This record gives sequence, structure tokens and C-alpha cells, in this order.
Amino acid sequence: MDKIINSKTGLKGTIKIPGDKSISHRAVMFGSLAKGDTEITGFLRGDDCMSTISCFKKLGIDIDVTDDKVIVHGKGLKGLSAPKETLDVGNSGTTIRLISGILSAQNFDSVLNGDASIQKRPMKRVITPLSLMGASIESTNDGYAPLTIHGSRLKAIEYTMPVASAQVKSAILLASLFAEGTTVINEPVASRDHTEIMLNYFGADIKNNKGVITSSPVDELYGRNLEVPGDISSAAFFMVAGLVVPDSHIIIENVGINPTRTGIIDALQAMGGYVKVLNERKSGGELVGDIEVKTSHLKATTLEGNIIPRMIDEIPVFAVAALCAEGTTYVKDASELKVKESNRIATMSTELGKMGVTITETDDGMIIEGNQKLKGSTVYSHLDHRVAMSCAIAALIAEGNTAITDADCVGISFPDFYDILENL
Ligand code: S3P
Repeated sequence: MDKIINSKTGLKGTIKIPGDKSISHRAVMFGSLAKGDTEITGFLRGDDCMSTISCFKKLGIDIDVTDDKVIVHGKGLKGLSAPKETLDVGNSGTTIRLISGILSAQNFDSVLNGDASIQKRPMKRVITPLSLMGASIESTNDGYAPLTIHGSRLKAIEYTMPVASAQVKSAILLASLFAEGTTVINEPVASRDHTEIMLNYFGADIKNNKGVITSSPVDELYGRNLEVPGDISSAAFFMVAGLVVPDSHIIIENVGINPTRTGIIDALQAMGGYVKVLNERKSGGELVGDIEVKTSHLKATTLEGNIIPRMIDEIPVFAVAALCAEGTTYVKDASELKVKESNRIATMSTELGKMGVTITETDDGMIIEGNQKLKGSTVYSHLDHRVAMSCAIAALIAEGNTAITDADCVGISFPDFYDILENL
């Protein structure tokens, strides 16, 4: 599907965005490993999270998807059964990496595969620590999917994370639930901690002492009810739209504001953006709030160091904000962008380049001159949901119409993105 978007002024309204992708995946996975039922409200019905549901159904778990809930009938830590066919993770890096930690410890073998993008995403980062725990993972493709996992007995390890990655950390923590001994993970740069929060909520024993994370064995996890907050990574598109489109004022309700995810708020505020968090509250161990944004005069900034993992998925749309700021913005320490659903340094520079602006690619980020004028053009999503949505936000401030080709990939994380945009 192609999508045509033209320039706009005066985006006004109060919106709700879909559930958090990271939390939705985890709720299904941990609910499957828990004893008893887990009722999830606010679950993200995007393609990625539906891939997680389909994998756990193939592992013998009954999961009901009703109009307003997902109910996982968990079978306990030893309750999964051998899948009869390949587990297809679709486009979802979170599914393949986290499930690898679980499957490594089963008493059966399984095969994992996904789409063309998944087959290009590095899996050695999970194969290495899981193998140290005793896992047996074969990659026919030198470190890339498809993966064949032979279930094994695992032992605890002490591991220092070479890159800040919540997916790798979570794969190790999930394996640790089945391993003999206490697993220790040293995390020099913090990544999102939804796994630690939710596993503890289900009865695990995970502690974090200044970046040293320990997971001690427990006998069982127990099913819980969970309300998934809105995804700040999806909210980010409307935060940037509200700041850069003239005469706008948007309130985004019920957004997850876990401090490991709020780098985008900090960055936009540092640029002088009117971004306010209202009605802060807690739900299922996670912080939630409403976010208010108003059109603002933005100044350039530099993103580097610890803030990068706190906003890694938001950097494509952040680039659009930087194009409108006064001065030159630098994004450094962000080479992880190259191994996302697409190489987001390259794809964002290329596609925004087609709209008449220059973004200079660097080895670990980009340099973005501010005050650049965008012109409507035909751009390509590269089948990357966040590239498609970032281009859509850029199109709002471009002169003329923009056509986004293969625009329906937004269904991965935000199926009603274009409808919400039009309603504003
Ligand atoms: C995720 C972690 C991040 C993020 C991804 C979701 C998660 O990936 O980019 O969209 O749910 O754990 P990395 O672990 O590769 O940084």
C-alpha cells in the first residue's frame, strides 16, 4: 500500500496510542511460563506481538484473544511442549531473541525463523552468552536466523554486556529461570528494564544493584493480571509532530514513562520543546503518565552516551525534529541503529534526502543541519515501520504531497497510526 500525506497546520486533540510493544511481548511470554492465567488489557495487536502469540500457541499454550483482552493460560516453568513446525517470528527481533533464552533450556528441540529482515539481524549476541550457559544453538547462516535450538541443561553465568541491549539481557534472564545457580549480568550502560520489573511481578527473584543484575532461582512463576501502558515509542511520532507542525497542541494519554525509555522526552525538552508529563501514576510496576506537547521553537542538541539506549527506537523521528531546529544536531554512539529492522542511519538519511534535505551519515550516528526546508516526494519505507512513520511526520511539514511506498508496515507496531494522524 502507498500512502499520500500532505502538509498540515494546527494538529489538535487528545489521543490514545496502542500498547507498549516490549511489554506486550513479555506479558505473553512470561504468562506462558507462569502457573495459572494471565489477563492482559491494552495488549498491542501489532504484527510483532501476534507473532509472539503464534509461537507460544505452537509451544502448546492456550491463548484467547478477545475484543478487549488477551488471556494466556500458563502451564508453569516446565509446561511448554515440542513444536511440530518451525516457529515463525515474522519481523520481530524481540520474539526471536527472548524466546531463544527460553527454548535453550527445554527438553526438546526447536527451529526459529523469520522474514528477510530478521535473517539479516545479528543473533551471535544471544548465541554467545546462552552457549556459555550450556545452550546448543546452531545457525545455518553464520550467526543469523534460521536457528536450531537443541534443548539443554543450563548453568548460571556471570556475563558483562558488550552492547546495551534489553533483548540480549532478557534472553539471559529468561534462561536463568531454568539454570542451576545465580546468574549475574553486568550492564555498564542501562537498557530498558521491563523484563526485570515484570518477571519480579510474576514471582522471580531479580535484583539490580547499580548495574549488577542478579537472578536467583525460583520454583515457579505465577499468572497475574496486567494493564499494558501506551508505547512511548509510538507516542514519539506525535510528540515530534506536535512540536514541529505550526499551531499544534496534542495530549497523548496513558503513555509508559519508565525512566529507561524516556530519553526522547529529555532530548526534546533539551531542545526547548514544550513537552510536559501530566498525571504520573504506577501500574503493574511501570510508571505511566499523559504527555502534552505544543508547537515550539527548537534548538539543536547533541545526543551521545547513556541517553542513546533510552531512546534508540525514537532516533528516526528525532531526526525530523532536528531538521527543524536552529543549529547543527549531532547523534553519536548510536551504531546499534544499523542493526534494527533496517539500517536506520542509512534509510533515514536516504529517504529524508529524497525530500530535499541533507543528513550526513557517520560511523555511529548522524549530523543534522537544522532549519532545512522539506519538499514532498516519493519515499520508501524499506519495510521498516519506524522509517515509514518518521517519513509521515516529515511529510506534515514538507511543501506539497509525499507518497510513502510500502507504508502499511506500520502494522508491525502501530496499526491505526494513519487513522489517528488523520483524526488530529
Ligand atoms: C527491545 C529492545 C531494543 C529495542 C526493540 C525492543 C525490547 O532492542 O530497539 O525495539 O523489547 O527488549 P535492543 O535490545 O536490540 O537494543
